[in-house]
Amino acid sequence: MSEAAERRVHVIDHPLVQHKLTLMRCKDTSTKTFRQLIHELSALLAYEVTRDIPTHEVTIETPLESTTGRMIDGKKTVLASILRAGNGFLDGMLEVLPSARVGHIGLYRDPATLKPVEYYFKMPSGMEERDVIVLDPMLATGNSAVAAVDLLKRLTPRSIRFVCLVACPEGIANFHAHHPDVPIYTPAVDRGLNDHGYIVPGLGDAGDRIFGTK
Ligand code: URA
Repeated sequence: MSEAAERRVHVIDHPLVQHKLTLMRCKDTSTKTFRQLIHELSALLAYEVTRDIPTHEVTIETPLESTTGRMIDGKKTVLASILRAGNGFLDGMLEVLPSARVGHIGLYRDPATLKPVEYYFKMPSGMEERDVIVLDPMLATGNSAVAAVDLLKRLTPRSIRFVCLVACPEGIANFHAHHPDVPIYTPAVDRGLNDHGYIVPGLGDAGDRIFGTK
């Protein structure tokens, strides 16, 4: 990975994050435990991904005196979930960002062209003044993430960040070829993709593991 690309990929190498991700990768981890872990991990990822969002100074009164503090700028942050696995991040992130707005992006893969096609897109109003955090657990080929950010950019949000659980070099390269301005936050960059488009070693199908649909 080039130096510029490395700067746009934030690998969240925190012991708590790594511990939880390792448990999630285990094939014997139950649906119940997987859900609990993604919930806990999401809150930690929300903390990291919001580290540099803009703040401004405000004056407040404590019970003792007047002082200044910092508060987040602009309209409420948007959590933009790429359906369906992105929804796995929502509850945990909303614990840290309880006033965040939630948008949904539905994409399916056209069997003929293999390109993602939009079937659902709903965001809050006032996107020009909002920071958007795009959620999808697996950055595999990157095609859905690219398409989701294409759709979001039409609404000209103030900023866009992308969060996943596991990325791979192919997905990162594809994503940043289209959206070099959008940083990726991930606990792991795995070896690559297998012939079925799964990340290896990965954690399997994130949607199936979150929703118990295997
Ligand atoms: N989607 C998943 O859920 N898992 C992968 O490994 C790749 C895409």
